[in-house]
Amino acid sequence: MAKIGVFFGSSTGNTRKIAKFIKRAFDDELMAKPLNVNRVSVEEFASYQYLILGTPTLGSGELPGLSSDCETESWEEFLGKIEDLDFTGKTVALFGLGDQVGYPDEFVDAMMEIYDFVEERGANIVGAWPTDGYEFEHSESVLDDKFVGLALDQDNQSALTEERLAAWLKLISSDFSLPL
Ligand SMILES: Cc1cc2nc3c(=O)[nH]c(=O)nc-3n(C[C@H](O)[C@H](O)[C@H](O)COP(=O)(O)O)c2cc1C
Repeated sequence: MAKIGVFFGSSTGNTRKIAKFIKRAFDDELMAKPLNVNRVSVEEFASYQYLILGTPTLGSGELPGLSSDCETESWEEFLGKIEDLDFTGKTVALFGLGDQVGYPDEFVDAMMEIYDFVEERGANIVGAWPTDGYEFEHSESVLDDKFVGLALDQDNQSALTEERLAAWLKLISSDFSLPL
């Protein structure tokens, strides 16, 4: 079984595309094929010690799911299914997609919901990312002057995504035993 599980929610496909991009850099022994949380079992999710979790922010600073008008269930519903999961001993890295121009007061807010969820359940969370290079008013996902994970903006800064991802994967590489 692969060491690292990559799980995402997505409404219009951007987060899915980033998850697939991350996977392309690593072989199947190290990283499992990224899976949408609307089609993963709790058992499969729970089987990984290392997790990379990605989410867009939708609605008004919300996680994707039926409340934010997604066509299918997503993180909102999946978190309800893993409420009793113990993350002790698991290492988690987060990435979040948002739109800093359209939503400058709630930029990538939803990342914090997953952060709080896994943190409360004992996860070791890695991959905090500097806020330099972004222009926004407020983000719930900033803690101690850094994003709690990698913030990506495909709507306004897609040209920076590849470079940001490469640097972020390098940042989390020793925590995840990635060959970088
Ligand atoms: C209805 C709607 C609401 C959104 N709300 C927010 C928001 O509150 N904060 C934010 O940073 N981005 C927001 N966005 C931007 C999305 O997060 C962004 O376009 C993202 O790339 C979508 O990812 P996906 O294609 O994986 O769903 C919103 C987009 C839509 C369509």
